[in-house]
Amino acid sequence: MPQSLSPDVRRALAERIRYYNELGIYDFYRRDVTPVADETATVNFIQPEQREEMSPRKAAVAVPAAPDENMFEVISSRPETGVSDPIKALKLIREDLGDCTRCRLAKQGRKQIVFGVGNPEAELMFIGEAPGADEDQQGEPFVGRAGQLLTNMIKAMGLSREQVYIANIIKCRPPNNRTPERDECETCSPFLMRQIATIKPKVIVALGAVAAKTLLAISDSMSNLRGRWYDFRPAGARSNDPNWTSAKLAVTYHPAFLLRDPRQKGEAWKDLQMAMKELGLKAPKKSDV
Ligand code: URA
Repeated sequence: MPQSLSPDVRRALAERIRYYNELGIYDFYRRDVTPVADETATVNFIQPEQREEMSPRKAAVAVPAAPDENMFEVISSRPETGVSDPIKALKLIREDLGDCTRCRLAKQGRKQIVFGVGNPEAELMFIGEAPGADEDQQGEPFVGRAGQLLTNMIKAMGLSREQVYIANIIKCRPPNNRTPERDECETCSPFLMRQIATIKPKVIVALGAVAAKTLLAISDSMSNLRGRWYDFRPAGARSNDPNWTSAKLAVTYHPAFLLRDPRQKGEAWKDLQMAMKELGLKAPKKSDV
């Protein structure tokens, strides 16, 4: 049954979509709904506060199917859409992020946004939790003590930092290095999803519980999360490349945890070996590391 929307509803819809674009969310999907007589009932967005716990998968917003095709004219596309050069695409995502004030961390002492670093076409991505003091100072993820250990882990895999891409779930340092809040992860992660969809890695290694739980939208112990592959599709961010839809994701311990409990390094090495096997990598001889 054809339906048209009143100017007021259209305006409300456009504003709502702009609001989501502002949060870095551009991809929407339609949910079939039974047409109803009251047109206001068709503007049935899922409110952010209704999202489930740790649910970046829900970052894509359900827009009810409405036969009025013009309704979707208001939906703008992500700035990087159609940009095939990943260096340019990442730059556009960074520009879209701007001098971000989307969450409270902007006003809680962060010096700068820590976007991510490495090969824009990396086959392997490491995703940590949040920048610490050194990262906040230098504007690069994993450059402090935990970062040095991560660098060594990457070298042990026969790779360099420049060959992989390193990012965090959130891009601003939380005060006193506290664990990021759920809403901070939800606000920031759409940008990470777009980075992932641009880089199109084969393998993602989630470092620690915050990264694992946010990316997988499941809550479980590290011992249960490790040791297996997950099919990971960046929520709400489609790749330009129709041949890339997902990465394989493995979970391992955060390097900061390994500094506190070095006995777990062997377990982390097993996780990295799993990733190496997937990527067809052989560990270099000790003398080459
Ligand atoms: N810990 C993280 O999770 N990320 C960093 O960038 C540094 C330390």
